[in-house]
Amino acid sequence: MNQDQAHQLRQLSNSLSGHRRTSRVITVASGKGGVGKSNFILSFALSLMDLGQKVVVIDLDIGMANLDILMGATPKRHLLDMIRERKSIWSVLERGPKGLEYIAGGSGLSELLQLREEDRHYFFRELEKLHGYADLILIDTGAGLTAESQQCHLAADEVILLTTPEPTALADAYSVVKMLHSKSKTISFQLVVNRVSRQKEGVEVGSKFKFAVQRFLQKEITIFGAIPDDGAVMQAVLIQVPFYLAYPRSQVSLTLKRLAERFVTGAEAAVPENGGMKGFIRTISRLFIT
Ligand SMILES: Nc1ncnc2c1ncn2[C@@H]1O[C@H](COP(=O)(O)OP(=O)(O)OP(=O)(O)O)[C@@H](O)[C@H]1O
Ligand SMILES: [Mg+2]
Repeated sequence: MNQDQAHQLRQLSNSLSGHRRTSRVITVASGKGGVGKSNFILSFALSLMDLGQKVVVIDLDIGMANLDILMGATPKRHLLDMIRERKSIWSVLERGPKGLEYIAGGSGLSELLQLREEDRHYFFRELEKLHGYADLILIDTGAGLTAESQQCHLAADEVILLTTPEPTALADAYSVVKMLHSKSKTISFQLVVNRVSRQKEGVEVGSKFKFAVQRFLQKEITIFGAIPDDGAVMQAVLIQVPFYLAYPRSQVSLTLKRLAERFVTGAEAAVPENGGMKGFIRTISRLFIT
């Protein structure tokens, strides 16, 4: 039995036994670059997996710090190969440390979305197969807002917005909320303040940000949490192992563990706001045409 058949069989038995997963699509965004999105995604995915969640990470960032470098992996194939060679999504689903399932973009989102129409359709059709396969699909789209990353955030069930306490990062994060909110009133944000020196700083920065968004944009956002500034992150980057695995007892890893617990048990956890991966594809195809 080849890889494709094995996956199809698993999908079939899942749906027969009623075990289809909700496949919530979560994009991770930031205004400013280098605030810690890619490191966060990998360690967050690993801590969610520890809680029994099935997670797929998709790297659609063309930035310098690729997810594969951060986990010392060399993906054999990526999404562009999949499209060019008309391979299935399962052929590009790679396994990283601890079995972390991820898909490398191989190019930026803009290149992927600017494909010929038939290629784009193929891309969307294959991506949609992830619906029911994973509980959570985490997408790294890089910093700032290109037209394509906007579509991605607008189509997601939730956007985790990362910032540091620096005024420049906060101002850029605010612009992201403003821009996306102007396009969709129902978009859902979870704010994470990364690299705080004390939890109290995180609470203060988060509340001020939430208040500003409430007051000037009449938009409610959720404060998801704050992550400490911890030398373990840089050490882990140097040895190319996600910090959650390299330094499981560090403050930053323990914090991620708590965030993951809150994420899967929180009130907003159960229902994908925008219909999971199916909804993601529906919205992004529509946005692309209009
Ligand atoms: N919690 C943290 N504590 C200490 N350092 C951190 C923390 N988070 C991130 N960093 C530092 O920030 C650097 C950049 O992180 P990362 O590559 O994850 O950012 P990014 O937002 O994905 O960047 P880009 O916008 O370029 O994709 C890391 O290499 C690390 O040195
Ligand atoms: Mg990155």
